Order: sequence, then structure tokens, then C-alpha cells
Amino acid sequence: MTDTARTVQDRSIAALSPVLGRYFERTWVRGQGHRLIDADGREYLDFANGIAVTSLGHAHPRVSAAIHTQVDQLLHVCNGLGHVESVTRLAEMIVEEMPDGLDTVYFGNSGAEVVDGAIKLARRSTGRSHIVAFSGAFHGRTYGALSVTSSSLNYRRGYEPLVPDVHIAPFPSAYRDFGGDEVAATTACLGYLERLFATVVPPERTAAFIIEPVQGEGGYVPAPAAFLVGLRELAERHGILLIVDEVQSGYGRSGRMWAFEHAGIVPDVVLMAKAIANGLPLAAIVSSRALQERWGVGAHGSTYGGNPVACAAGIAVLDVIREEGLVANAAGRGAELTRGLQALAAEDPRIGDVRGPGLMIGVELVKDHQTRQPDGALGDAVIAAAADKGLLLLTCGPEHNIIRWIAPLDVERAEIEEALGVFQEVLLETA
Ligand SMILES: Cc1ncc(COP(=O)(O)O)c(C=O)c1O
Repeated sequence: MTDTARTVQDRSIAALSPVLGRYFERTWVRGQGHRLIDADGREYLDFANGIAVTSLGHAHPRVSAAIHTQVDQLLHVCNGLGHVESVTRLAEMIVEEMPDGLDTVYFGNSGAEVVDGAIKLARRSTGRSHIVAFSGAFHGRTYGALSVTSSSLNYRRGYEPLVPDVHIAPFPSAYRDFGGDEVAATTACLGYLERLFATVVPPERTAAFIIEPVQGEGGYVPAPAAFLVGLRELAERHGILLIVDEVQSGYGRSGRMWAFEHAGIVPDVVLMAKAIANGLPLAAIVSSRALQERWGVGAHGSTYGGNPVACAAGIAVLDVIREEGLVANAAGRGAELTRGLQALAAEDPRIGDVRGPGLMIGVELVKDHQTRQPDGALGDAVIAAAADKGLLLLTCGPEHNIIRWIAPLDVERAEIEEALGVFQEVLLETA
């Protein structure tokens, strides 16, 4: 490591809060396309994407140009002060990507913030208090979002009391809890909800379900389509809102624009953040106009939410996704990556499962195929060794034993092959 890199690292450790967990002790100085460059001049193929944010890679010319133009024209005016073209245009474009009826956008800054907003929207608009969330979910760190999060005790411990009237129901995690049987997982978890409503939580007092269609931080676990269909039906039956958190799974990552599309359902509320402005802070709540009218003028708001520059970046992101067919690319390249990983899994008993749609792929590492005991130490070792070889991968799951592959949406076949080659070497070296 050069002296400069060492200095930045030491100063950073001294100046920044130790509450931050870090995947890597590396100093990043530049991003170009799909590569990150560290202070020693080393290049890394970036399959971490700033945790599913820079889906178009770094310094994308269209995104950078849109940002520069908007910065020179108008950097900030609070959405509460009036109307701005880039904000309005992005809202219109997001609505164009939605199923019919989801036609109204509220902009925030971060995932957690729009999760909180959605909980407030659900409670205020229904006049009901209870929220049902799912085990293993990650929705963010603010109090509302944290109260529906259960992917790690470390996120919750010591913060109680959390927001009341939140119930955590089991998520249909087929590989981990049902021997890989999605039908059994779906039946058991829908059955649990029926019992919850019969014995603990009055359904007519329940405002919302909140669910990630593919769990992110919790382990890259897709909800079976039949479960989401059942949840939609249950919500319909009891007048409960279905909030779908697409903060990590949305914007083409799953090989469809929205991961809920794989199940053929239409949620009442869709949440997005992360990739929507390719790195600038921006998030959104989308629902029907009727629902947000019931929220009430002034019932929620934000100083920075819908910042004009972030929205200008967001317009460029959607333009590029559309013009370059990147949702289809995510599906196609994702299928190739999955096939490659499955081939490696067939040779390596430490890989228990390869799963996930599109470019949202989790590789679960286990100590033993039979017991499926998570191997978190191996997960940590694998991403460290991959980084040493110039490939950035991340882990997820409470035990860090799931390697998550977050390739950019415009990833090329050659890069998939390069990454698979590095992963194979890493598996051999850690055997
Ligand atoms: C599904 C999901 N929801 C919400 C969040 C919180 O987003 P943020 O970190 O922008 O608050 C995350 C972050 O990882 C997420 O993956």
C-alpha cells in the first residue's frame, strides 16, 4: 500500500465513526465504467456497485452530463417551494414504468426514509395501526424501517422500544427452512399469516404488509411467486395495503423492471431508491393518486427529497436503461452468470445454493450440504481473496455466508467470464 493510501485509511479510521462496518479496508480514488480504482492504482471489476447503486457503472457519460447541466442550471430548490422540470419529468417517467393505476410519486432521499414514509402513508390513509413484515427482511436503519427489519439482531439490539404494532411473520425461505421446497414454504408461510389474523392481529386493524420480493441484505432470497400471489389475495380480502420494497431488487436488477413482475402481481405501494439515480441520493414512493390523496396535504415532506440534480441523473438513468435494453441485458447476462455459478457449484460441495433472478444472484456457502450449516468465515475469506484478485463481490445474510453478485445492468459477457474465472480461482485457493 502506498503512503497516500495508508494516510487516507488511517485518517478515515480516526475521523469517522467506528459504528460503520466496512467490507474492505481499501481507499477508493476513482471509478471508470465497471472498474473501481484504488489509491495504489489497482483496478477492480466492480460487482458490488456501491451495494446495488451504480447499476450503470461509474462516470457514465450520460449521467455525468445530465448532472453537470442541472448543477449549472439549478442545484436545489425544495419540492415544497414549487415545481421543477427535472423532478416532474422523472416522476412521469417512473410512472411509465409502473403497472396501470400506480400513477403518483413522492420523492425522498434514501431507502429507509421512503420505508418510513410508506408506513406513515399506510397508517394515515387506512386509519389502521398494525404492520406485518417478514423475517430476514432489511428495510433500513431509521426507527420505522428498523422496526420492520429483522435480518440481523445487531441492527435492532439496544434500540427498543421500536415502533409498536409491527409483527414479523416468517418469510418463505425455501432453501434454508424448507429443504428447497417452495410449495411447502409458500403453504406454511401463508398458513402462518392466516393464524396470525385469527389469533393475534385483527386483520381489520392491519394497515399493510411490507415485503421485499427478493430479500437483499437478508440473503438474496426470492419470495416464491405463489407466496406473493397469496399475499396479494390476503391483502385484498382484508383491505390491507401491499407495500413492496424494491429498493435493492428494482430498476431492472431482477431481469424485469420490478421484481414483483415475476409473480404477476400489482402492489399498492412500490418503494425504490439505490440505483434510481446511479449514486446520487434519491428514493421514491409510488402508489395510486387516490391513496396519496388520503395521506393529506402536509402530512409528510422533505427538504432534499426530489433534489433537481438527483432527478436529472434519474432521467438519464432511465433513458439509458430504455435505449440500451438493459433490463433484457440483466436477464440475459444474469442467466449466463447463473449457469456459470451452477457449474462451479456442481463441482464444489461448499456451495449449497445458487439462486435469484437476473443480476441479483446469491451463492450460499455451507459447511455441509446435508446440514446446510452456514459458512460465514468462508464468505468473508472469498470476498477478501476475490478483491485481492481484482473482483469486488459482497456477502449478505446474518452469517455473511451468501456471496451476492451485483453486476452492473450493462455488464458484458466477457466481464461475466472474467468474474467467473476469478471466482473459480478463489474457490480453489480457499479449498
Ligand atoms: C430492500 C432495502 N430496503 C431499504 C434499504 C435502506 O436503504 P438506505 O440505505 O438507502 O436507507 C435497503 C438498503 O440496503 C434495502 O436493501
